[in-house]
Amino acid sequence: MRNESLTPEALPESLAGFVPATTPETSKHADGTLVDKYGRHVTYIRLSITDRCDFRCTYCMAEEMTFLPRAQVLTLEECLRIVNTFVGLGVTKVRVTGGEPLVRHNAVWLMEQIARLDGLKELVITTNGSQLERYAAPLRDAGVKRINISLDTLRADRFKEITRVGDLAKVLRGIDAARATGFERLKLNAVMMRGRNDDEFIDLVQFAVDKGIDVSFIEEMPLGEIGHGRQETYFSTEEAIARLQTRFTLLPSAESSGGPARYWRIPDTQTRVGFISPHSHNFCDSCNRVRITAQGELYPCLGNNDAIRLLPLLRAHPTDDAPLRQAIMHTMGIKAKGHDFTGQMNAPQVVRFMSMTGG
Ligand code: 5AD
Ligand code: SF4
Repeated sequence: MRNESLTPEALPESLAGFVPATTPETSKHADGTLVDKYGRHVTYIRLSITDRCDFRCTYCMAEEMTFLPRAQVLTLEECLRIVNTFVGLGVTKVRVTGGEPLVRHNAVWLMEQIARLDGLKELVITTNGSQLERYAAPLRDAGVKRINISLDTLRADRFKEITRVGDLAKVLRGIDAARATGFERLKLNAVMMRGRNDDEFIDLVQFAVDKGIDVSFIEEMPLGEIGHGRQETYFSTEEAIARLQTRFTLLPSAESSGGPARYWRIPDTQTRVGFISPHSHNFCDSCNRVRITAQGELYPCLGNNDAIRLLPLLRAHPTDDAPLRQAIMHTMGIKAKGHDFTGQMNAPQVVRFMSMTGG
């Protein structure tokens, strides 16, 4: 299946009804890899394996969430089929996310299968840490190399406020379990929120230094309709850096983990401090990824609502991966040039929740 190309005339019959009939300029490298029409190579997929979560973080979910019925969620076998097809098209890095991926029954089985795929270089996972005490060792044994753990505060009362239901002590035990297990790298992710956790940025970095792990600070993104206005809680990377510099020496680092974060090093420590700044720094030019939701929608861009539904396609062709491969290649042609998180911060530009697309 090399060198196949999709033009409007050539839209295969198997895709009719599954992808828009008007095919934009589609590009695909002759060597069987994925390249979008702006020349960006897609080598990284983020796969959400469940929209469910055992937390209800205020910036991510509404208090009362309705989750997808099981039949509308990809089975783990379907997840594997999708990942396998992407890896066949040159994808080398897979991040498994959620919701909370570790609340999905048999998530570790899926990790084992993905880690074994020929051509895959890196399997990583993003988790809220609630189940890590139990799963750190099985994940390492399955072949997971790095773990990102969400942690916005080190204070138990605040943790409960932000996550609505989470138990900080359990997450901290999970972080220690992961450290004891020995991953290549552990990283904390903290969403920056003015008036909620901005007085803890220094403490969070100190915690990362003490534990010998990395930490990234994330500007809150306007995803989904939630309870608070984002304008009030928005906190910029620039201000966060200035605040951290009152305590730490930050040396700019050229390192990149293949993601949108920009990193700084703290001398004489193991710790890198990253910033993910969708508002103040546009990282779209170097975007190398696409996202797949738990219900099998392929989103070429986090900040854009265009998506292609892979689930009905998979179920219509249970044994033939060619239509899936073609739909994926087709999606390269609709990958947006950039996200649009500007404008009205309080009105969500993107109507789905982060728990749907998995960060
Ligand atoms: N803006 C920024 N980060 C978010 N996350 C969830 N929702 C948002 C949002 N609206 C973060 C989580 C986790 C990662 C997957 O995404 O805290 O670290
Ligand atoms: Fe769950 Fe992560 Fe969303 Fe919090 S941010 S509710 S931990 S999916």
